[in-house]
Amino acid sequence: MTLTEIQQGTAEPLAQQRHLETEIPGPRSRELMVERRAQVSNGFGAQLPVFIERADGGILRDVDGNQIIDLASGLGPTALGASHPRVRERLVAQLDRFTHTCFMTTEYESYVEVCRWLNAHAPGDHEKRTALFSTGAEANENAAKIARYVTGGRRFIAFRGGYHGRTYMTMSLTSKEKPYKTGFGPFSEDVFHAPVPAGPRETAASVAPCLDEVRRILIDNDPATFAGIIIEPILGEAGCLPPQPGFLAGLREIADEFGILLIADEVQSGMGRTGKIWAIEHDGVVPDLLVAAKALANGMPLSSVTGAAEVMDAVHPAGLGGTYAGNPLSCEAALAVFEQFDGGGVLERAEALGEIADEMLKPLVGSGVGVIDVRGRGAMIGIEFGDDESLEPAPDAAKAVSQYCHANGVLALTNGVHENVIRLLPPIVIEPELFRDGLRVIIDGVRTVAGRRG
Ligand SMILES: Cc1ncc(COP(=O)(O)O)c(C=O)c1O
Repeated sequence: MTLTEIQQGTAEPLAQQRHLETEIPGPRSRELMVERRAQVSNGFGAQLPVFIERADGGILRDVDGNQIIDLASGLGPTALGASHPRVRERLVAQLDRFTHTCFMTTEYESYVEVCRWLNAHAPGDHEKRTALFSTGAEANENAAKIARYVTGGRRFIAFRGGYHGRTYMTMSLTSKEKPYKTGFGPFSEDVFHAPVPAGPRETAASVAPCLDEVRRILIDNDPATFAGIIIEPILGEAGCLPPQPGFLAGLREIADEFGILLIADEVQSGMGRTGKIWAIEHDGVVPDLLVAAKALANGMPLSSVTGAAEVMDAVHPAGLGGTYAGNPLSCEAALAVFEQFDGGGVLERAEALGEIADEMLKPLVGSGVGVIDVRGRGAMIGIEFGDDESLEPAPDAAKAVSQYCHANGVLALTNGVHENVIRLLPPIVIEPELFRDGLRVIIDGVRTVAGRRG
């Protein structure tokens, strides 16, 4: 199946065009939001309060008939579009067989097939094993468990700006306080946060001091008490920040030197988003544990931890698991995703989107419109807003541009350590012309907001 066919979804193909029927949010979405507020915990935020009734390729159609360009992929998972025909076909066939047995109780082949593909495609030629779970946070929790088990250490080094989930261990590994940790403490005292050489202020000269800081944390706190170092090879929530070249390789050396595990959290950056299956491949580094989720099953809940056979097999039977871990429907969705990778074209499309973004967005940097950086890889792109001279973060500008995009039918979300980044995670299958249309709206938004500020 070609990428063009992939976008066409199922029975009713959704026209791949932006279209505004009402203001956004429209009247029906506003009505539903009233009900949502009355029924759903306030703890769940809503970046764009529209309700979706159909989604396919690069388009989300809301309950008012607006067609919004999707530059978020449901926070990353729907890389092949939210109505991929092969995902649907495999899910329907599996629904006719069974929905659940629990892999720890009685087995099914699709779980093993998913593990086989991940073992074959995770970096490194060594023999590997995989364990499947449901969410990214759950997989990171399990990576931490495995690292503690095999090293005998309990402590971890994570990074400033890093995000690893909303469970207790993963909140501890996450550095950003608000909104993820505020009011939820105490957190594990076994996590140290080190700086990453990434972002518009950092250069190659920052790599050595950052690596020295990691070494210092280990030495000052008894290296034998450490289990691992966990890092996103491109920091997603921090605003799509790739660390400076050489940093990940330096972490690999430190992990080897101190006998601890290097864990790559590829929950957001993995599964082709950056133009390679794993973002860490850009740096030629082989992690001890590779964690995947999100695009792994194109929106069905599935996550994984892959590592060397001797590491993954060290844990005693029933030490890992979970009732829904590696659910058979999710496994079928992952197998449909793997078919697309094996068929070719997905990585090239992600790369092509990155080239379009570079070509259209990079001229904004230094042009006096408050964009201080455009970076990322493939279809994982960050546009950072700040003062053109001092680089002082400008979260209000990022928010205003995002609101402009929403009003004009483009879903472009803000994030970043200072909330001053617009992060683009478009479905990899988005039509290049539709993607360009979305970027044109962003550029108009940047100019409009800069004009307002004078
Ligand atoms: C890098 C990274 N790790 C972990 C997670 C947590 O994944 P989940 O929301 O599936 O628990 C996320 C989610 O955004 C993420 O981006």
